[in-house]
Amino acid sequence: MTRIALVSEIDLTFLEAPFRRALPDAVLATWPDQAAEQAEVAVCWQPPPGALATMPKLRLIHSIAAGVDNILSDPALPPLPLCRIVDPMLARAMAEFVLWGTLYFHRQFDLVIRDGREGRWHRYEQHAAADIRVGILGLGAIGISAAELLVTAGYQVTGWSRTPKQVVGVTVHAGDDELDAFLSGADILICLLPLTLSTIGILNAERLGRLRKGAALILCSRGDHLVVDDLVTLVRAGHLRGAILDVFDKEPLPADHPLWREPGILVTPHMGGMAKPRVIADQVAENIRRLQAGEALCNRVDPTRGY
Ligand SMILES: NC(=O)c1ccc[n+]([C@@H]2O[C@H](COP(=O)([O-])OP(=O)(O)OC[C@H]3O[C@@H](n4cnc5c(N)ncnc54)[C@H](OP(=O)(O)O)[C@@H]3O)[C@@H](O)[C@H]2O)c1
Repeated sequence: MTRIALVSEIDLTFLEAPFRRALPDAVLATWPDQAAEQAEVAVCWQPPPGALATMPKLRLIHSIAAGVDNILSDPALPPLPLCRIVDPMLARAMAEFVLWGTLYFHRQFDLVIRDGREGRWHRYEQHAAADIRVGILGLGAIGISAAELLVTAGYQVTGWSRTPKQVVGVTVHAGDDELDAFLSGADILICLLPLTLSTIGILNAERLGRLRKGAALILCSRGDHLVVDDLVTLVRAGHLRGAILDVFDKEPLPADHPLWREPGILVTPHMGGMAKPRVIADQVAENIRRLQAGEALCNRVDPTRGY
């Protein structure tokens, strides 16, 4: 019998039924209930800092998402195995979001929607997908899925990762030394990096300034990758055309936040992709089985790398 605790600053009750189905013999508690202190497995999204350190029997910490930045940021995080969700359907959903965002700028919906508000009928010159260069920061489970869909749609796709990789139809740059060359070759920049000490604030004035004039940004990784004021300054100055922002340093973005009304910026509510509760429960259940059998865990995070 495994004791599992749902540990989060947000309500995770939507996971209770799928976990009961996937692990009918487990005992499920929700932090901060006292029963959570006995948990061997913590299932987390934004765990309150220090909460996991109050569970002396813990053997495994599992994210319910692809990202683990909101777990690794806990200064009292116990040194235990940490796993995340890797889901092809989530990656596909993110790829669709990215394809839509690419079409939004490529087919100039940003300009047409703006014109429509002023009753202005204007047809812009059309460009072929093959003439649009899309650059993807991060070629992991999600970045590769997005790159493949964009290649299929006919775009010129480049990618940037920490280590070199081969993706059919994609020109890959690797490492800090190749970041500037990568940036200068993108008409549309898409960020799909994990949030780590190396990538926090990576989209700042210096990096965004290396994009060619008229380039656009699609941010669907984490809000803290972006220095928002630097983006707004570059858009207002006409260096960048605009941005789609799906993630923010504080979510939900408050209704009175100026980004909602900033010309050229489109806000979406962290809707890029999410694993289905059933998938989350099944992947955690499989890792609990592996933990108990002494087998290697799936989708384990390297805490020193941060992803
Ligand atoms: N908006 C949404 O709804 C939503 C949904 C799910 C996920 N996300 C975000 O998407 C992120 C990416 O997810 P994933 O599953 O694709 O991650 P992943 O599989 O861990 O891939 C991360 C990629 O980023 C690269 N990378 C990491 N640090 C780097 C650095 N310092 N320099 C260059 N490249 C670096 C890695 O390079 P290597 O391959 O060389 O290691 C890898 O290619 C998540 O962390 C999460 O924040 C957002």
